[in-house]
Amino acid sequence: MTAISTEVVLSVRGIEKSYGKQHVLCGVDLDVHRGEVVCLIGASGSGKTSLLRCMNLLMQPDQGEILIEGAPLFRCKGTERLKLSSRQVSAVRLKTGMVFQNFNLFPHRTAVENIIEAPLVVKKVPRAEAEAQARELLTRMGLPDAGHKYLSQLSGGQQQRIAIARELAMQPTIMLFDEPTSALDPELEGDVLAAIRQLAAEGMTMVIVTHEIGFAYELADRMVFMDQGVVATSGPPRELLLADANPRLAAFVGRFTEQARLLGPLAAPAAAPPTTSPNKG
Ligand SMILES: Nc1ncnc2c1ncn2[C@@H]1O[C@H](COP(=O)(O)OP(=O)(O)OP(=O)(O)O)[C@@H](O)[C@H]1O
Ligand SMILES: [Mg+2]
Repeated sequence: MTAISTEVVLSVRGIEKSYGKQHVLCGVDLDVHRGEVVCLIGASGSGKTSLLRCMNLLMQPDQGEILIEGAPLFRCKGTERLKLSSRQVSAVRLKTGMVFQNFNLFPHRTAVENIIEAPLVVKKVPRAEAEAQARELLTRMGLPDAGHKYLSQLSGGQQQRIAIARELAMQPTIMLFDEPTSALDPELEGDVLAAIRQLAAEGMTMVIVTHEIGFAYELADRMVFMDQGVVATSGPPRELLLADANPRLAAFVGRFTEQARLLGPLAAPAAAPPTTSPNKG
């Protein structure tokens, strides 16, 4: 794994969000450093998706502050709200790439057409250059022959890797993933997880919401447990899961079968962390 810098790429401070009377984010603080992989876990409804959508302003928080590479994307303290032009917001937002559960691709277009759309329209990259970059990204995602294929001809796992390639084409500073494999059949998850693993090895800064505790344990530099709208506890996976200090975290991870497979290495403090994914095989 590549080194994590001390530089904060994404800073989230005191984020609050309500839907009507339901207070979903109740003051979330989180810093993500360059090269760091942060896996967000927590029960359904704990606010993970809401937080991720706030991070790139797909959704406006009610209160708090979001900085990307030091540049404010959002700031509202009390009634004092920082006013940014849509151009300023777009410039900061472009630093984030977001991968959803359900791919969000154009089904009637080819893989390459999906990937080059934003570079052509937003960045005005010449078509030949954008297409060459798209093919390179497809190769990186393990899909060297998928360029001319229509999305409807591809599996969910292939589509999700194209969705990742599409985001990478905009050269983001940080990638945000919201349960990238949860819509996939189990046999298709592996290739997507491998692609994300590869990005981590290349030093990409990432925030990954996942229910795959085993994957998070293996990949994350830091696991963050969200509970009742706040960061309840966080830390390097091994320390966090070993510490057993948060009973709600223990109850949460205990529900997952992957956790059972981790119990071997976790139970023996001297044992090295697993070198292969507990999800495999
Ligand atoms: N657009 C919305 N309008 C109203 N309520 C919402 C909206 N989006 C989310 N909620 C509610 O906010 C709470 C947090 O939802 P969120 O999707 O952030 O949770 P989550 O941790 O991502 O859950 P899951 O693991 O099921 O994806 C839930 O109670 C949800 O019903
Ligand atoms: Mg969610």
